[in-house]
Amino acid sequence: MRYDWSKAALPCRLKDFEAKWAEQADPLAFSGVWRFHELIPFAAREHIITVGEGRTILQRADRVAPYVGLGAGRLFLQYEGLNPSGSFKDNGMTAAYSHARRVGAKRAICASTGNTSASVALYSAVDGRIPAVVLVGSGKIAYGKLAQALDYGVRVLQVEGDFDVCMERVKQVARELRIYLMNSLNPFRLEGQKTIMYRILEGLGWEPPDWIVVPGGNLGNSSAFGKAFRELQEVGLLDCVPRLAIINAAGADTLYRLVNQEKIRWNDGRVDEARVAAFYDRMEAENRRAKTLASAIEINRPVNLAKCLRALEWTDGVVETVTDQEILDAKAQVGAGGFGCEPASAASVAGARKLRAAGVIGASDRVACVLTGHALKDPNITVAYHSLAEAALGEKYGEYGVRAAKHANRPIVVPDDLEKIIEAIQV
Ligand code: F0G
Repeated sequence: MRYDWSKAALPCRLKDFEAKWAEQADPLAFSGVWRFHELIPFAAREHIITVGEGRTILQRADRVAPYVGLGAGRLFLQYEGLNPSGSFKDNGMTAAYSHARRVGAKRAICASTGNTSASVALYSAVDGRIPAVVLVGSGKIAYGKLAQALDYGVRVLQVEGDFDVCMERVKQVARELRIYLMNSLNPFRLEGQKTIMYRILEGLGWEPPDWIVVPGGNLGNSSAFGKAFRELQEVGLLDCVPRLAIINAAGADTLYRLVNQEKIRWNDGRVDEARVAAFYDRMEAENRRAKTLASAIEINRPVNLAKCLRALEWTDGVVETVTDQEILDAKAQVGAGGFGCEPASAASVAGARKLRAAGVIGASDRVACVLTGHALKDPNITVAYHSLAEAALGEKYGEYGVRAAKHANRPIVVPDDLEKIIEAIQV
């Protein structure tokens, strides 16, 4: 989607957006998405549906920084779990729902690893005019997310298969029944997600960091982030852009393989589709399915691949992978630093640590990791990590390569006995 910026009422400096803070009584200035309306000008005011999404902030994370290999004041966590449905998806969903209202959509649909469905369900319930259907892989979504979709009252279809299967079906159903598609294939979703980057810039006094680190699943975020920076450069509101680091789970590493092994590039819009298709054919022939405890990013066929390659080019970006063990260890560190997140989100911190160790991220670089989803989305894994003995943990998650919980905060079992309780406190 390209705007004719000469027709937009842009501010002279990014700092001018701060004036909106004083207009909080206006829901469009309260929203952390729509307070940047000038940079997502497709939506007319009367169509916008907002629930106060995007009121998230950049947290300076000095207690997590040493884990990543950075000094004080160098690591920042963009805590998107603070959104109304508990994940970054609300940034995009407010935009997509507003567009759906503009075009008079009667129904909405999405495939999801859980957060998209929770967000769709929330906006559908609040709006009340566009009922939604969500398709989730049977047994493939974390409980917190499933609970949300059920509670907000959308129609939930549990499909036998994984996210890739659901995504394929949803595309077919949307075409056949002419239902409005809410996945990040929808470019209006990405328009809303651009604002995550504006808020990071705002958190740093409009000085871009050196790196933005983000988990990669369907690659909507990374595509949106690249576009956000490119546009700011185009309209002269920003001089230099941060580099993007996209982190795949090792068990769902399509982007990593395509970029680092197959050397697939944006190539001025001429992506080598034949090589990508051959890659997917091999994947199919080997029956390689995505498999990671970071269920949010358990995706083998990212729908925004081409746009993401473009973002990598625009930002001189890199792609890395991290194991599930690295993800869970990083997640415990993020939690101990006071900012919980779900497993997929911790891939960003685990990835930053790996890139720092390899010298790709420099010791004095300023790094912003996006924490995409709230800790309470997936409590089962958190409790298992902290409470299971090593053998039991290995038994439960060994097939994911998880064997130890280096940063476990073990609960202590005590009898109902004052002396024993005091003893347990004093050790
Ligand atoms: N982190 C979380 C918590 C997510 O839920 C997702 C995607 C991602 C990262 C990956 O972001 O797709 O922009 O690269 N979840 C989708 C869903 C697929 O259905 O909820 P991406």
